[in-house]
Amino acid sequence: MKKIIDLLTEEMQDAFEAAGYERSLGRVTLSNRPDLCEYQCNGAMAGAKQYHKAPILIANDVAARLKDSAIFKEAVPAAPGFLNLKVSEAFLAGYLRQMAGSPKFGVEDPAHPETIILDYGGATVAKTLHVGHLRSAIIGESIKQILRFAGHRVIGDVHLGDWGLPLGLVIAGIKEEQPDLVYFDEAYEGEYPAEAPFTMAELEQLYPAASARSKTDADFRASALDATYKFQSGVRGYRALWQHIINVSVPALQKTYGNLDVSFELWNGESSVHDQIPDMVSYMKENGYAYESEGALIVDVKQDADAKEMPPCMILKSDGASLYSTTDLATIRERMRLYHPDEIVYVVDKRQELYFEQVFRCARKTRLVEEDTKLRFIGFGTMNGKDGKPFKTREGGVMRLEDLVRDTTKEMYRKILEGRDMPDEEARKVAEIVAVSALKYGDLSNQASKDYVFDVERFTSFEGDTGPYILYTIVRIKSILAKYAEQGGVADKGDLSEAVNDSEKALMLQIAQFLTMVEGACAELAPHKVCAYLYDLANAFNHFYHETRILSEEEEGKKKGLIALLVFTKEILETCISLLAFSAPDKM
Ligand code: ARG
Repeated sequence: MKKIIDLLTEEMQDAFEAAGYERSLGRVTLSNRPDLCEYQCNGAMAGAKQYHKAPILIANDVAARLKDSAIFKEAVPAAPGFLNLKVSEAFLAGYLRQMAGSPKFGVEDPAHPETIILDYGGATVAKTLHVGHLRSAIIGESIKQILRFAGHRVIGDVHLGDWGLPLGLVIAGIKEEQPDLVYFDEAYEGEYPAEAPFTMAELEQLYPAASARSKTDADFRASALDATYKFQSGVRGYRALWQHIINVSVPALQKTYGNLDVSFELWNGESSVHDQIPDMVSYMKENGYAYESEGALIVDVKQDADAKEMPPCMILKSDGASLYSTTDLATIRERMRLYHPDEIVYVVDKRQELYFEQVFRCARKTRLVEEDTKLRFIGFGTMNGKDGKPFKTREGGVMRLEDLVRDTTKEMYRKILEGRDMPDEEARKVAEIVAVSALKYGDLSNQASKDYVFDVERFTSFEGDTGPYILYTIVRIKSILAKYAEQGGVADKGDLSEAVNDSEKALMLQIAQFLTMVEGACAELAPHKVCAYLYDLANAFNHFYHETRILSEEEEGKKKGLIALLVFTKEILETCISLLAFSAPDKM
């Protein structure tokens, strides 16, 4: 259905036209003086020059045409030529009833739904998930839900980092600790054990130790590079160890992502395309896109209009090894072949922006994608600690994602028990759900590209612009509705009636903005727009709740109307949190 702002604009345009002015002047916007009006139109000012007329006179003419409007209750000219607008309660209630009766509250599916591959998560196998991975997972999952709600087909791919030096480092570490393992016996031809010679806990220790050591110990580094070359080129024992690392790591990654309500349709990685690299490379060479330079194979991606430095995209290193860019390009090619997406979206640290610019240009130039395939980079900023530097543990180390979730859950649990009486087991469960909202909302309420400060104290607060505040509002509505049901009431959104006071009307106006919000969040892939809307909606609801008798309302028809509004508010709030990929408990 149409956005409310479009209906208001059409009505205003009719009035401009009826008064003898151009329709295009009748654009209506949200009011920037909420103390005076709900919406406004500035068209009279814009038309003054063209009609050689004082704006206030134009505004007067238009206002006169709106005297009997069924949509505007008030259209008041104000100096120098504003039209201050209030909508009619009957129109607003009718609009909300139409939303309530429509699938997705009136958000229509696009005429041409797109197939979109969403590349997010980006964990590196064998490394523990740490806070650096948090943002991609959280933002990506929300973008996925927003696009799906809007009616697109979205395929999420975790694109694991599973083909580079980190794995070589781990293998070199294993080799040093257990040199006699059969995997390192290059003469061995039998089957390898099904069981990995290490646990996830051991892997977690191996990587950081190996990585640190490779920085000071040249022999060890050479051994890691050798291991990388060997597993990549398919030396049996090394490839078998590589497979063990994947098999041990992936379930652990799935669990940590799962605890954050993040899930992927595809568990592909850089390695998934390794056997297609030779073919892609010859294609690039044969078509004259790629050429050798100082031993390496590169594709120029500079353009005349470039103001900034744009290095060529490297396809193969001088030793013939593939790179991060090689696997990304081959992945694009494979995605085109398998899914033919209209768009591929990457949710990655914004420090990789230049890299993706190179990759995108290279993919276009080499025609791995079609002309109209969109490639989009959503870069996010850093999560900082209170000191303004990238978030660390108290001891100054890298914070494991699991520990961050655990600490946040503990704090949430403490806050939940502080104010209320709840059986311990229930409090723990509730704390888990609410902690996810605290983490996600704390992140998503910031524009993705900006850095933000992780503040567990603030994020877990029940007050202010936080996840727990939003959930608290939903739980409050659930509890009123439960009481109403206990009293024998039957809630029905169809009973929505006209607002009788300002706070009720303000709440209804806020609900009516839902379509506009979804459109904006989807076009810009901007979860923070959902958060901003949610916060306004929760505030509007709580204000209304404090001003209005609900269960004690004596007039039955009015009470039914209020209950209907509660049900609707709850559904919109719940839909919005589902767009942010968290959920609400029944009590808290
Ligand atoms: N694993 C990468 C990293 O840790 C992120 C992957 C991003 N996605 C991609 N297609 N390159 O930096």
